[in-house]
Amino acid sequence: MEKKLFINNKYNSFKKTISIDGDKSISIRTLLLGSQAYGKSFIENILLSEDIINSINCLKKLGIKISLNKKNCSIYGKGLNGFEYKKNIVLDAGNSGTFARLILGLLVKSPYYIKLIGDKSLSQRDFERVIKPLQKVGASFKFNRKRNLPLQIVGSAFTNPIHYIENRGSAQCKSTVMLAALNSPGQTVIKAKKSRDHTENIFKYLGIPIIVKKNKHKDEIKVKGQKLFNSFKYKVPSDPSSCAFFIVLTLLSKNCELKIKNVNVNHSRIGYIKILNKMGAKIKIKNVKKKYGEKQADIFVKSQTTLKKINCPTILNSNLIDEFLIIFLAAAKANGISSFRNLGELNKKESPRLKLGSKLLNQLGIKTILTKDSIKIYGNPDIDVKKTIIVKNYFKDHRIFMTSVIAACTFGGKWKINDVSSYRSSFPSFLNILKKLGYKFKVDT
Ligand code: S3P
Repeated sequence: MEKKLFINNKYNSFKKTISIDGDKSISIRTLLLGSQAYGKSFIENILLSEDIINSINCLKKLGIKISLNKKNCSIYGKGLNGFEYKKNIVLDAGNSGTFARLILGLLVKSPYYIKLIGDKSLSQRDFERVIKPLQKVGASFKFNRKRNLPLQIVGSAFTNPIHYIENRGSAQCKSTVMLAALNSPGQTVIKAKKSRDHTENIFKYLGIPIIVKKNKHKDEIKVKGQKLFNSFKYKVPSDPSSCAFFIVLTLLSKNCELKIKNVNVNHSRIGYIKILNKMGAKIKIKNVKKKYGEKQADIFVKSQTTLKKINCPTILNSNLIDEFLIIFLAAAKANGISSFRNLGELNKKESPRLKLGSKLLNQLGIKTILTKDSIKIYGNPDIDVKKTIIVKNYFKDHRIFMTSVIAACTFGGKWKINDVSSYRSSFPSFLNILKKLGYKFKVDT
């Protein structure tokens, strides 16, 4: 039986420096590109979460040798399209939407059908968004009526460089097409609404021919395919999305100070810091260094007794797409009514996060007005929960789990949160760090 987390431990003053696990987006991209490089790549501080372990196991099934020594990963690529294709390969991506979508981009030359499966949550997510462009590249699919998992992909010996317009602000869709471009002759051209740009940065770092023209709303990305590239070294910085939970914990608690070292502070990932600072937080980013085309830095945050409401600019949506749930908690404690719009994509994540985020706030006594793509949150600076809160039926969404834990630590109440293991898909040190900061909880059936 899945264990539950019991927590009843509001406010706990701390002054600490912590390290957060490696970045999930970058860990997955270094693995995928390591599998296509020629020779042994070495990735330090890789995230050792379930999503990454599943990614490694899938790449091994495709004939790529990978060894792990604690957080150091050696991956032995055999060059572009160097997978060992066999009949009846089944890849299980577990909970990872990023790996499941991106790996399809590397399978556009497979001579046999490869089956892609995932857990219950991933099996309900949309894959049409990557099937369509990959069909244009030359791949064929067997899929169900809803175009989700399980699906099967078979490639083609003659792949095409395509022109693709990405309108959702999805880095996964953009990256899937960029990876397919590696195995297509000529130039693939992508016009993509702004989203995290790690794939672009790592392509540049590896010397893959890529030109990126940044415009106000869309970026134009041109990739020349079939260019071999060598193995590489990469040290993965800490994940800013994981940091967000402890940043908001510090902010909403009393007399707390936190320093987080060596975080990925790529502009396309720290929209939530901009929003929190607009709400009155004073989060500082110091000691900025540039490595592998990415910015890394230390983050400093202190408790903030009063926060202002926010009217979240929609242009920032894709820059904080994974942090909305935790930002909703800050809005719940802010003075005034905050509003967030154009958020239909949030209901297409590991769970319908917009809906479930609203439900969680309602359980805490916070009024919300919810539509299919927006939410208004009526903040209460004096929020003090006294009742028992039970969190269940949330598709084991890691970010719902962690957001609930932070709500328990900041707003009070007696909490029982189901499916404890969920946080392991992205942030395996989450509960250990909470313990290190002095919080007490019980994990039991
Ligand atoms: C990711 C992109 C985002 C994000 C996900 C990681 C990536 O998804 O939510 O957690 O690494 O490319 P979308 O591309 O679907 O917005």
